[in-house]
Amino acid sequence: MSTATMIDHAPYLERAFELEVAEGDERLAGVAGEIPPFVRGTCYVNGPARFRRGELRYRHWLDGDGMVAALTFDGDGVRFRNRFVRSRKLTAEEEAGRPLFRTFGTAFPGDRLMRGIGLESPVNVSVFPFGDVLLAFGEQGLPWALDPHTLETLGEHTFGGRLNLISPFSAHPSFDPESGEMVNFGVSFAGRSPSLTLYRVSAAGELLQRRRLPLELPASMHDFGLSRRYAVFYLSPYLLAVEKLLRDGATVMEALHWRPELGSRLLVVRRDDFELQASIPIGRRYCLHHVNSFEEDGRLHVDVVELERPVYGEYQVIPELFTDAPRGRPVRLVIDLERWRLCDRHELPYDAAPDFPAIDPRRAGRPYRHLWLLGISHAGEPGRKFFDQLVHLDWRHPERRDVYQAPAGSYLASEPAFAGDPSAAEGGVVIVKRFDAARVHDDYLLFDARDVASGPIATLPLRRAVPAGFHATFAAGTAGRSTS
Ligand SMILES: [Fe+2]
Repeated sequence: MSTATMIDHAPYLERAFELEVAEGDERLAGVAGEIPPFVRGTCYVNGPARFRRGELRYRHWLDGDGMVAALTFDGDGVRFRNRFVRSRKLTAEEEAGRPLFRTFGTAFPGDRLMRGIGLESPVNVSVFPFGDVLLAFGEQGLPWALDPHTLETLGEHTFGGRLNLISPFSAHPSFDPESGEMVNFGVSFAGRSPSLTLYRVSAAGELLQRRRLPLELPASMHDFGLSRRYAVFYLSPYLLAVEKLLRDGATVMEALHWRPELGSRLLVVRRDDFELQASIPIGRRYCLHHVNSFEEDGRLHVDVVELERPVYGEYQVIPELFTDAPRGRPVRLVIDLERWRLCDRHELPYDAAPDFPAIDPRRAGRPYRHLWLLGISHAGEPGRKFFDQLVHLDWRHPERRDVYQAPAGSYLASEPAFAGDPSAAEGGVVIVKRFDAARVHDDYLLFDARDVASGPIATLPLRRAVPAGFHATFAAGTAGRSTS
């Protein structure tokens, strides 16, 4: 056994992947602390929740079938509900009583792809309210519509039949906080040359625009930035050898290759007609998640979490996660909109494998100061680890360090979700789930968004622990009201 495998910075982490997950509905009891009265609405989280089917044990965190959880603050208290997304993959495998489809990181003899051209999505990455429904997203492919109250799966969402199951569609749509418009993208790897497809959908759900742009490289991309006038793509040279997936039986993980010598670029596309404006070289780092983008004084600010290399290799082999978690930082790339050149670059000083950045969604595409993200305290050391820090950063005061450290053996198990205080610009709470692995116990934690270091202002215990989630969103109002 190597030294690296003997050091364990995440004791009992395996328990997060071995939970017997039951769907349920409970009213929370034993809430400690105070929930500010402006917190009304539902915190939705999507994440992979089933890591075994039959004899098959999945290898990669992205492999599990998606489960959506809803934590609803309804004035009478707090309610928790969780349901699997009844995707095509889940229903077919339940019917068969065995695994059928290859996943992001797990292949097996006789496994299938979706129509032979890509993965059948486990719909396990993100969830957003849109119109009358809740949309649950997987890494690529159309979202699935859920009832926002009951979380019942309604079906694959085709935007009125305008998109179909081979339309590439990312798990990171962006929403304009004023118009409610959705902009999204997808990358196609099959066919003669790779391409980037962009979509604009009205708040009413009508597909307003679709455009396909050629890509020089088959670069995988997970997220993008949206300002008032531009869509921005951080193209890292993390290339998908699609023939390995389609012909050789490889997993996506095995077909991805990091080629830093090819360099990273920022593609800037005009938002109203999807015309390419610029392709700007920006070094050789990797970006999984954007933070925000906005224009100010003739400059486009593109804020991302920049990592020294891709992180997907750290999501395996369950439960030995993040053994070599890459360092990274929140970075602001400033583009001169006249010369279309990178004219400035600012870094925030937190580098402990940051990820899952969140902002006040009211500031999406607009100038803003504050962001929240998760970090791993032992980043840079050997041995498995998991997220155990909630970090609040302020672009105006980069030196300020506002960090909540979870107790030893506890992990932060969902993206921070921001619930805004209507009476305070950028004021509000952030909501994060904490998994106590020793006790196999979950609490949702509420923090004063401007002071996370002081610890939670409210602790909301669940009766039963549920698996870690990926992306979270807070929907203010009554969308998630309880119905029973
Ligand atoms: Fe993501």
